[in-house]
Amino acid sequence: MTEAILLVGGKGTRLRPLTVNTPKPMVPAAGVPFLTHQLARARAAGVEHIVLATSYLAEVFEPHFGDGSDLGLSLEYVTEEEPLGTGGAIRNVASRLHSGPDEPVLIFNGDILTGLDIQALVSTHSSSGADVSLHLTRVEDPRAFGLVPTDATGRVTAFLEKPQTPEEIVTDQINAGAYVFKRSVIDSIPTGRPVSVERETFPELLSAGAHLQGMVDSTYWLDLGTPQAFVRGSADLVLGRAPSPAVPGRCGDRLVLPSARVAPDAKLTGGTVVGADAVVGEGARLTGSVLLAGAVVEPGAVITDSLIGAGARIGARTVVSGAVIGDGARVGPDNELREGVRVWCDTTLPAGAVRFSSDQ
Ligand code: GDD
Ligand code: MG
Repeated sequence: MTEAILLVGGKGTRLRPLTVNTPKPMVPAAGVPFLTHQLARARAAGVEHIVLATSYLAEVFEPHFGDGSDLGLSLEYVTEEEPLGTGGAIRNVASRLHSGPDEPVLIFNGDILTGLDIQALVSTHSSSGADVSLHLTRVEDPRAFGLVPTDATGRVTAFLEKPQTPEEIVTDQINAGAYVFKRSVIDSIPTGRPVSVERETFPELLSAGAHLQGMVDSTYWLDLGTPQAFVRGSADLVLGRAPSPAVPGRCGDRLVLPSARVAPDAKLTGGTVVGADAVVGEGARLTGSVLLAGAVVEPGAVITDSLIGAGARIGARTVVSGAVIGDGARVGPDNELREGVRVWCDTTLPAGAVRFSSDQ
């Protein structure tokens, strides 16, 4: 049975302040830490042994997932003392792998929500005889990703991580963050120093003549690295647009965890999640949003496409749209927080402190 490595050690800087207290893979999406969805999907594809490569806030993973038996998995944790980068992290867990030199090992970025057929990627790998196989997806703007042009047979011809110039934008096919490596290729990555799999390992393998195979697949795919993407991904899980066996409840317009309290006339739509012990007051309207554990939304507040951190409070009639409110922040009544705003953890905003309109 194929085993897997999950890369979960990044600092998640683009998601701050969500990742100030919580590493990105542990931020809840659709009611459970995001990583749960990836673990459950890997298990459903037949993977039983998974090694988590941790670094930033490494101590929180094991207390939550333990030995993995709740998910039917055997989980191991390896922590880098200093972050080793994506390639260094992969090399650093090699001693925990059970596979033989020619056997396939799955590797996943820890922030990808996708409907990828994992077994199809493994099949592509074995039938093509590749050294490394990569899941590729097409995006409109590839600049934030690794560009992966392929030839007519799907063989990778170049790997261009985060292109800087227009000439480098040679394809709309990008690295979707799921690989199959021949075990021996993992062992060939240098030890004891940071290595980027994207900037160093893939280009070097290509120039040494190794066979890298791409599998383009147009199923659901989202990198949850930004607040907007994270909120979208959570809503898509709740709505059933993104597949996961780990959503705690039936898919639909909303997901309310059992210990939450929601006023009968509050309106929850668009895949909104109300986390454990969270409270939604009378007449509040929440669309496509995430309320983390213990968050409070006072009566009449209107929250759209936003993430409200653990224990944060949104005052009465306050409007929050396209925003992130950090854990423990207190936003007073009659504020208006719009597109792109990030309110840091434990901040206090008095009543009516921020307005976009002049209606009051
Ligand atoms: N253990 C460990 N150590 N993990 C790390 C480290 C590290 O030093 N650095 C990053 N990671 C993990 C992150 O936690 C994440 O799960 C994964 O590696 C990728 O890092 P991101 O920071 O999310 O990278 P990205 O989104 O900018 O780009 C990557 O993903 C794109 C697809 O979403 C690249 O692989 C691109 O080529 C790719 O297109
Ligand atoms: Mg990412």
